[in-house]
Amino acid sequence: MRVVIGSDHAGYDLKKELISFLQNLHLDVSDFGTDSGNVSCDYPDIALQVAKIVASDEADRGILICGSGIGMSIAANKVPGAYCALCRDQGDAELSRRHNDANILALPGRGADVDRSKDIVSVWLKTDFEGDRHVRRTQKIRAFEHSLSKSFGQKRGEIVIFDHPLVQHKVSLIRDVRTSVKDFRDLVQEISSLMVYEITRDLPLEMIDVETPLTTTKAYALAGKKLAVVPILRAGMGMMDGILDLVPNAKVGFIGLYRDPETLEPVEYYCKLPGDINEREIFILDPMLATGGSAVAAIDMIKKRGARRISLVCLISAPEGVERVHLAHSDVNIYCAALDSHLNDHGYIVPGLGDAGDRLFGTK
Ligand code: PRP
Ligand code: URA
Repeated sequence: MRVVIGSDHAGYDLKKELISFLQNLHLDVSDFGTDSGNVSCDYPDIALQVAKIVASDEADRGILICGSGIGMSIAANKVPGAYCALCRDQGDAELSRRHNDANILALPGRGADVDRSKDIVSVWLKTDFEGDRHVRRTQKIRAFEHSLSKSFGQKRGEIVIFDHPLVQHKVSLIRDVRTSVKDFRDLVQEISSLMVYEITRDLPLEMIDVETPLTTTKAYALAGKKLAVVPILRAGMGMMDGILDLVPNAKVGFIGLYRDPETLEPVEYYCKLPGDINEREIFILDPMLATGGSAVAAIDMIKKRGARRISLVCLISAPEGVERVHLAHSDVNIYCAALDSHLNDHGYIVPGLGDAGDRLFGTK
């Protein structure tokens, strides 16, 4: 079991005791700060960080300690997918697991009895969720969270449509037949940047020390998750810089495919991927998901090289393409700016925007 733990200054002493206790139980424990009982810090900074790690399933459980445990629990419970229970005795700890499926335990640090706190932690870690009628109740909480945040609770293999007004406005401009090649190209980059901001929302963070002109402080940095973007040539190239502007350390692979105009089936002509592609979270880029043939072929090619966590980022998709991708690869998320009506007899998306490659590069 992987446990993440954090405290503010008031919980620091108890946290140190609990870390040794958890390590003696041979649990994988990561400490998310703070690093001193003498320097005042803000509990939300720690709570939100720990809560995000647990909510994204990168850790199984979290433990948070502040003076009373109240601030930590309030802050952690703002993160969808984090269910934090403030427990003052073993009874609370047991019920928070059996009935509420709490994945984060908040404890009071001020005046805490260390042995009593260890007992609370011990009961909380070993008690299972009872399920049964409690599932219905926890599901209601999850459904509410889902209604607040589109990306919350998303299973692999779903489609996320970006309805942000800026994205929608720019999509209307790229649909417009009068939009020039230069403007089209700029807009595709801009939409891609806006989309990547959202699709990277759950990237893990880590605490680092930063020296400001005034003092040394704790701050956050991306935890070095390995990313790769893989544009499908040609049109996917139009999205690449917009994405790399925001994630400049991502590696880049290329897949060359074109659609045979008669059969509409993809024809492969190039593939160059990072050597460690199997270790990376991969975003395949292609503005158009029409029949889905190209996307399925690209995903096949990448999976053959061992990659597993793959998302498809496109601008306009057709229901036919979404269905084909999910039939072939039910684990792949599709992120798009618009889901259009249908394909015409030539396999073009209606209303769509025409041929994305031609409009990006001025060919016909
Ligand atoms: C377009 C688009 C996709 C593909 C989508 O590329 O960029 O790759 O069509 O169609 P599908 O879902 O039916 O496979 P195209 O084949 O026109 O090549 P290009 O990017 O070189 O213009
Ligand atoms: N490829 C495009 O560029 N546009 C479509 O509408 C379909 C495939």
